[in-house]
Amino acid sequence: MGSDGTVGEEAAIEALKKGATDYVLKPRPARLVSAVKRALQEGKERAERKQLEQQLRQAQKMEAIGQLTGGIAHDFNNMLTVIIGYSELMLQKLKADDSLRSDIEQIKEAGERASSLTRQLLAFSRKQVLQPKVFDLNAVLTNMDRMLQRLIGEDIHLVTAPAPGLGRVRADPGQIEQVIMNLAVNARDAMPHGGKLTIETANVELDNAYAREHVSVRPGSYVMLAVSDTGCGMDAATQAQIFEPFFTTKEVGKGTGLGLSTVFGIVKQSEGYVWVYSEVGRGTTFKIYLPRVEAAVETVEPSGETARPARGSETILLVEDDHAVRTLIRSTLQAHGYTVLEASQGKEALLLSGQHKGLIHMMVTDTVMPGMSGRELAERLKPLRPNMKALFMSGYTDKAIVHHGELDPDTAFLQKPFTPDALARKVREVLDSPHGQQGV
Ligand SMILES: Nc1ncnc2c1ncn2[C@@H]1O[C@H](COP(=O)(O)OP(=O)(O)OP(=O)(O)O)[C@@H](O)[C@H]1O
Ligand SMILES: [Mg+2]
Repeated sequence: MGSDGTVGEEAAIEALKKGATDYVLKPRPARLVSAVKRALQEGKERAERKQLEQQLRQAQKMEAIGQLTGGIAHDFNNMLTVIIGYSELMLQKLKADDSLRSDIEQIKEAGERASSLTRQLLAFSRKQVLQPKVFDLNAVLTNMDRMLQRLIGEDIHLVTAPAPGLGRVRADPGQIEQVIMNLAVNARDAMPHGGKLTIETANVELDNAYAREHVSVRPGSYVMLAVSDTGCGMDAATQAQIFEPFFTTKEVGKGTGLGLSTVFGIVKQSEGYVWVYSEVGRGTTFKIYLPRVEAAVETVEPSGETARPARGSETILLVEDDHAVRTLIRSTLQAHGYTVLEASQGKEALLLSGQHKGLIHMMVTDTVMPGMSGRELAERLKPLRPNMKALFMSGYTDKAIVHHGELDPDTAFLQKPFTPDALARKVREVLDSPHGQQGV
């Protein structure tokens, strides 16, 4: 460095090597302006990069937890199918005044609670089977209005602001209701002394600039759902963890910490985004972006379970590798009058089908099995038994049957865990449906 503080070109290069981001040759003030500009720009870029890195780390963490919980939920579903199933079968056999009845009811109830837990875990790990429809988010909101008001109580003022001309989205409407419910319950809990809950919708364009600042965002047209409260808010440390399963700040017994992880999973599986903005003492806003679609609204069929006669005398080929689950399904089907051919895997099923002289009306098969998947088995059997129907069972979405977590509309599918009643109803429904082997 010279005595007046100026730097020669060589010294400047040295300085740059040591980490300076720019240098100024003093006698050239014009350069000073552009150097300052550049330094500021670089500072901004560094901050943005840091933020993106943080978002990426967060995304990777969520991915890893998702893998883990998805795997656990999958295995639990088989066990719960057995626990709930046998409790139900026993209850059907016991006399109304049997003293064992209440004991078994306890087992069944606990099984059902566990099953709702695994459902939430599956939702988080994006492994649940969705039944997406094109729908209008405003219509869903309107339908929920009264229920929400009851949910949040009288001390909280509910304001809904549906945007006119709102675009349509493609998602599972039941799941989106779940999202809104979970957010509303959290908002209520954040406002124990009352406040305001605002739910609004809007058409939003996420542009390239937005996508640059948010990891994984694809620029495009979205429908936004914002849920805001005037509650206690959250500090940064809490915000960083809220979407993790079992993260809760509520006292033991009050929250399981699965509400927001369910929200996260549903939104991700619907190819959307969720962000949180919060200030301690002021309130919180959750913003959800779902991709906008041009297609026409599809009518949403009520999911109510119609009480069909569930019995029959048809012949059913049952393929399931889990011994306990298979035994349960066999006894259920037999109890409902069906003849059951039983195989523990694909090869065995092919063999059985070859040996069986009469009709096989339907195959009930697991989708993930060692050796041959349920779908592959169905494909191999199709030319041999073209009129045989097929019902797939699974503990979670797997690529052998669903694409991107979505079911082909005409694939008959039963989500584990299920009760013997639900199985019998579904079997009857598929047998009565007009199509041949479905969805293969
Ligand atoms: N609107 C909100 N305002 C303030 N804090 C919130 C809000 N929503 C969520 N949180 C914080 O995030 C945590 C996690 O929320 P999440 O819904 O996942 O679980 P939970 O509400 O604690 O339990 P669960 O929903 O399973 O009953 C909450 O315990 C709370 O600390
Ligand atoms: Mg919650």
